[in-house]
Amino acid sequence: MAEPLARESIVGVIGAGTMGAGIAEVAAAAGHPVRLHDSRPGAAAEACDALAARLDKRVARGKLVQAERDALVARITPVDALEALAPAALVVEAIVEDLAIKRELFATLEGLVAADAILASNTSSLSITALGAGLARPERLVGMHFFNPVPVMKLVEVVHGLASDPGAVATVLATASAWGKHAVRVASTPGFIVNRVARPFYAEALRLLQEGAADAATLDAVYRDAGGFRMGPFELMDLIGHDVNFAVTRTVFEAFFHDPRYRPSLVQKELVDAGRLGRKSGRGFYDYADDAPRPEPRERPTVAAPDAIRVHGDLGPVTPLVEMAGAAGVVVEQVPAESGGWIEFGGARLALTDGRTATARAVHEGSDLVLLDLALDYAGASRLAIAVAAQATPAAVDAAVGLLQALGKRVVQLRDTPGLALMRTVSLLANEGAEAVLQGVCDAAAVDDAMRYGVNYPRGPLAWGDAVGAARVLTVLDHLTAAYGEDRYRASPWLRQKVAAGRPLCDDESD
Ligand code: NAI
Repeated sequence: MAEPLARESIVGVIGAGTMGAGIAEVAAAAGHPVRLHDSRPGAAAEACDALAARLDKRVARGKLVQAERDALVARITPVDALEALAPAALVVEAIVEDLAIKRELFATLEGLVAADAILASNTSSLSITALGAGLARPERLVGMHFFNPVPVMKLVEVVHGLASDPGAVATVLATASAWGKHAVRVASTPGFIVNRVARPFYAEALRLLQEGAADAATLDAVYRDAGGFRMGPFELMDLIGHDVNFAVTRTVFEAFFHDPRYRPSLVQKELVDAGRLGRKSGRGFYDYADDAPRPEPRERPTVAAPDAIRVHGDLGPVTPLVEMAGAAGVVVEQVPAESGGWIEFGGARLALTDGRTATARAVHEGSDLVLLDLALDYAGASRLAIAVAAQATPAAVDAAVGLLQALGKRVVQLRDTPGLALMRTVSLLANEGAEAVLQGVCDAAAVDDAMRYGVNYPRGPLAWGDAVGAARVLTVLDHLTAAYGEDRYRASPWLRQKVAAGRPLCDDESD
């Protein structure tokens, strides 16, 4: 493990906007003298004043002691001349996201700073390799990708370009850790980890909406209450801004030479075209006018539960529901079965989705088939989603709904789409993480850490894949590929190999 920069080393920050101000705060909080520069005269000083005012509020709320606030503020010096960054050991740029402008800045910086100073970019979409090209010493350029708001978000993606010196990368990793961040190492590839692996979270939700699986409010509730995500995809896209989210998706899609896996959504393009950018424009998927009603998620009305159920085989992640059924007074009979796993009541079946529609499965498994979506934690989830075979009788559907309601769950019925909502999304998130590992972008632990610390996922995608069962994830992906006939759902060879070897996804030993 390399040593972090010494606390007395000067850190230069360029760009005093949202990100630069946050980076300056974090570096100063860790004890470094910081010099903050912005090309707009006075902008750095304004950012320092705004920071001081924010810290005053924290002092007033008892979250920060006055002496610490004073020391932190005193450590940051706004400088109007770029030359003032000459003594810095590390310079982090957070200026406008423009390759030519950033390149020009780094070329100028090279001539100013010491030969061993490290140059870092906070870019979220540009290639570190491309940024370094043309520099006299590209080996000292490293990506240092923070997340907004910088003082709060734990993740830093430390990005190495083709020319980056492993020593410089190691120093930046150690320095980010010393600043209290969770630093992950990632190769300079489109979207790095977070902006790549997160794509299916938005893309599959948009597709479900486009295919009429349910409305945005109902799907958001499923992602929150069954998936454990802090926000559903639609409310999150409204918060991020559709212009920004759509631009990231487009950039990743273009950068991967139009791989259908990252194809942007026409549903989102419509919103951008209409100027419905989300919260900032007052309207996106939701209407943010003060008097606008907040749409309620749709759910099935309450019905009676069956008196008894028979459990056939191993239900995998759904197993906790069986114990809950017993505790709720339902008579449970366990029937050993060689394969599969389903709950039976009066001839009807409730089973976990495997990526096929209920209607397709009902042809082989009996008409009265109801499929259950994935949940992060079946015992704790307050809401579960189901899909119903077109052949099913209303009485069978009511029995399945009643059973889940008797366990304290609100039940959402989605249109019968392959893989439902969460199973499909989580399988694709795990698959994208697998592809990133396969392609040497990062290791498996970094995939999970990045998604937990960078975007607050309740569980890392690969660990989630293991919880669902890697073989089950692979089956879902293969069924989605068959259902849609699209390359978009192709399973990663890394995932397939793990399943064949019977190894968990979170097992770096075998990589
Ligand atoms: P911002 O627009 O809030 O701030 C950019 C600042 O850079 C402005 O104060 C501007 O005057 C200054 N600037 C522009 N050109 C300059 C130059 N040539 N020399 C010195 N200063 C210059 O932008 P924000 O949001 O802080 O983003 C900055 C960088 O961080 C971009 O590369 C962006 O992609 C990246 N980023 C942004 C995130 C976000 O959520 N806003 C998250 C992660 C990365």
